[in-house]
Amino acid sequence: MIRDIFERIKATPGPLGQYQGKADGYFMFPRLEGEIGPEMVFNGKKVLNWSLNNYLGLANLPEVRKADAEAAAKYGLAAPMGARMMSGNTDLHIKFENDFAEFIGKPAGLVMNFGYQGMISIIDVLTSRNDVIVYDSEAHACILDGMRLSMAKRYTYRHNDMASLEKQLNHACKLADEQGGGVLVITEGVYGMAGDLGHLDGIVELKKKYPFRILIDDAHGFGTMGAHGRGTAEHYGVTDEIDVIFDAFAKSMASIGGVVNSEPEVIQHLKFNMRSQIYAKSLPLPLVVGNMKRLELIKTHPEYREHLWEVVNALQSGLKEEGFDIGRTESPVTPVFFQGDVNEATNVVVDLRENYGIFCSMVVYPVVPKGQIMLRIIPTASHTLDHVARTISVFKEVKAKLDAGLYKGEMKDMNLFK
Ligand SMILES: Cc1ncc(COP(=O)(O)O)c(C=O)c1O
Repeated sequence: MIRDIFERIKATPGPLGQYQGKADGYFMFPRLEGEIGPEMVFNGKKVLNWSLNNYLGLANLPEVRKADAEAAAKYGLAAPMGARMMSGNTDLHIKFENDFAEFIGKPAGLVMNFGYQGMISIIDVLTSRNDVIVYDSEAHACILDGMRLSMAKRYTYRHNDMASLEKQLNHACKLADEQGGGVLVITEGVYGMAGDLGHLDGIVELKKKYPFRILIDDAHGFGTMGAHGRGTAEHYGVTDEIDVIFDAFAKSMASIGGVVNSEPEVIQHLKFNMRSQIYAKSLPLPLVVGNMKRLELIKTHPEYREHLWEVVNALQSGLKEEGFDIGRTESPVTPVFFQGDVNEATNVVVDLRENYGIFCSMVVYPVVPKGQIMLRIIPTASHTLDHVARTISVFKEVKAKLDAGLYKGEMKDMNLFK
């Protein structure tokens, strides 16, 4: 029996869509208003905002806003028209990718229109049907989507578990040997949900025993990690051993786009084969110029990163001293784990937003185990130590209420969601 496509679409909202009635506009798709920064407006009220990946506070810096505005006035959003391969390449794209590669510490780089699409194509192009991918079980959606396109076989290893990785590498190398292919290991530099780092040192160590290449997604690590903000590879001192590094501009750069860095021949191959770039419009010039300004600021103003880490260290050590469980973060991303069910999690978030004026995001089952609640705090260089102190004291009050069972049961006032 043939059916109308829309019949299923209308009947099954999807894994996230199932919450739309209760969550749309509040927990999901919330509208934060005002200038980007720690103080914004949500649901008509001022909130202390801990939910943006504007790690270095560049989003609203006057020099950045000026560079963005001038570039937009000069070039307009249209320029250049077309994909880079056809008609959308410029000297500025090339200069920016060369400057970026030099900063990262790789000989070549390619700037891409969006991080997500870029990563999908990098995986697709780097691997063919005879190759084998070994990837971390908590890999970002763009890595999973890249693998869906790739013809390579794949094995997953338990998150950051080097014994599990070695076991899968054994299988992968055997299979690749039989097929005459190679092995690609994929990890994130910083895991954006819980803030733990991909164990690049351990992975690199395994290269001594197994023949494979490494690709890292360092969307959250660029700008935040390493002595110069070059990312997680710099943090571990393994830039030379990481074969391909991907960075997105949506976080520390507070912008749009992405970049991939590697050996010149590999970059050249990617440039001529990445379908998401060959068949899509190139990054508009105002974004290229705005990104160049941001890169220059990251290189010349270590104080943004230093202040970020001052805030991060105060927040993370303060929460730990008060007995909060912040998991295994080693990056600015700060998860706070509580015991509780989904009702309690939603009540906690509403109380935080409506009564304490604190906005952070919440993660529940299935992202964290059943019975656990994770509140995710993203400190930035625009936060102050006063913001940190206020937040820790509110978290103490909220935890006391949670422990006393005050958040049990369905949300009482559903009007809060309107
Ligand atoms: C780990 C990771 N990789 C890739 C992306 C996608 O980058 P973009 O937003 O530039 O498409 C994101 C989110 O932005 C991310 O968190």
